[in-house]
Amino acid sequence: MRILAAAPLPFVPAEWPVTQPSPASYNFGPDFTFGFSTSAYQIEGAVREEGRSPGIWDVFCHTGHHIKNGNNADVACDHYHRMPEDVALVAGAGVKNYRFSVSWSRLYPELNGGPNAKGFAFYDRLLDELHRSDITPWLCLYHWDLPQYLQDQGGWTNRDTSYRLAEFSDRVSRYFGGRIPNWMVLNEAAVHSYIGHGLGFHAPGLTGKDNWVSSLHHLNLGQGLSIQALRGNLPHARIGTVASVEPVVPSTQNKDDVQAAAVLDAMWNGAVLDPLFMGKYPELVADDFAPYCKPGDLANCHQKIDLLGINYYNRLNIHHDPKYAMDVFFGPQGEPVKYKALDVPMSPDGMYETVMHVHNTYDGPEIFISENGFATVDDGKPGSGLEDDGRLAYLGANLQFLQKAKEAGANVSGYFVWSLIDNFEWDSGMKYRFGLVNVDFTTQQRTPKQSYYWYGSLVREQTDLQKA
Ligand code: FCB
Repeated sequence: MRILAAAPLPFVPAEWPVTQPSPASYNFGPDFTFGFSTSAYQIEGAVREEGRSPGIWDVFCHTGHHIKNGNNADVACDHYHRMPEDVALVAGAGVKNYRFSVSWSRLYPELNGGPNAKGFAFYDRLLDELHRSDITPWLCLYHWDLPQYLQDQGGWTNRDTSYRLAEFSDRVSRYFGGRIPNWMVLNEAAVHSYIGHGLGFHAPGLTGKDNWVSSLHHLNLGQGLSIQALRGNLPHARIGTVASVEPVVPSTQNKDDVQAAAVLDAMWNGAVLDPLFMGKYPELVADDFAPYCKPGDLANCHQKIDLLGINYYNRLNIHHDPKYAMDVFFGPQGEPVKYKALDVPMSPDGMYETVMHVHNTYDGPEIFISENGFATVDDGKPGSGLEDDGRLAYLGANLQFLQKAKEAGANVSGYFVWSLIDNFEWDSGMKYRFGLVNVDFTTQQRTPKQSYYWYGSLVREQTDLQKA
């Protein structure tokens, strides 16, 4: 591992209207956790090794033309074989927290079957490596990679999958137990249900309102049941979940667009957080959920959590479009662009708005930012994207707005960047690169980008401040 030089101050694109502070000018206070986030399917590869069976993304990648450039994640970052090198990258940046997910079909490859010892052994090795490097593990149990054998039974449109998730959560927590102090159940129920089951751009490629609504309800139910199982098994762990929360803006002030934005807001934000924190669905969409919501479900969804992970990227612009489920779809930017990074419209101020919204609406839960990140587009040239000024500007400004929310009283305890390394970005394949470390997918060589050094120096400055 290369020793980090003092990071240069980030370059600020001329159009960026915020003053870019040096890493030392942030002050997140004592006990704030900085981390990196990844997910199993996006980095592991080794999809047919040591007993793993296919998940919905394996099938989705290998049927039809769903993924940019015909990419797949059969090898991805080959993390399954290069895990110690990747943990060393976390450690090399001075980062002490690492969020990852486990592959369900690697741990339980068969319907009604027993555990796969080799799959469990891989995550044991990962935990050993993290422990040796003094890095705290944050486990996310389900990051979108349902075993195909459950999809064959209807997947998330089948209520039984909620109970399957709870059983999986129970088994995994009994096995790893106290080795993992932070447990998150789901990653982004909103995105998985809408993009994967309402729009069909993600696995399992289902479309329409019924699939969207039923999958979301069953994710919420499975989450609530899982939290109960985790509580029983892990009295000392911190238990929570991860939601994608973003402000929704109508593309125009036309009444159909305003209504479409309200519906998407209710589905994307409210229908994920209200059942968890309040035991109800937002009024605007409650009737849509009624056919799937059996007596007692909302009580099961409504659970006390120790902390909520928020994934924040950008505001969502929505317009009315009858071609898509519930007549809503992503539309043009509704407001004049205030912030840009490398000419890409950005809304770091939406970070403040989002955190304050959750703080005010749900009675001040402990929040950590579980993902925040910026994609560069791979132009195919070696070394492309290493000078990632746009990413620095994006991360820097988001952190400023996060600090502002903390100062305004929100209970914010951490920030995790998406992502450690460039990886398989779902339907965008390897084209969109979110890593702070570049991966050459031919040689699998890892090369830190400018942002990796910047983030490392920010984390070190903050850690020093905490000690002072
Ligand atoms: C989030 C996902 C994560 C990654 C980032 C860019 O929606 O949780 O896996 O793809 O977007």
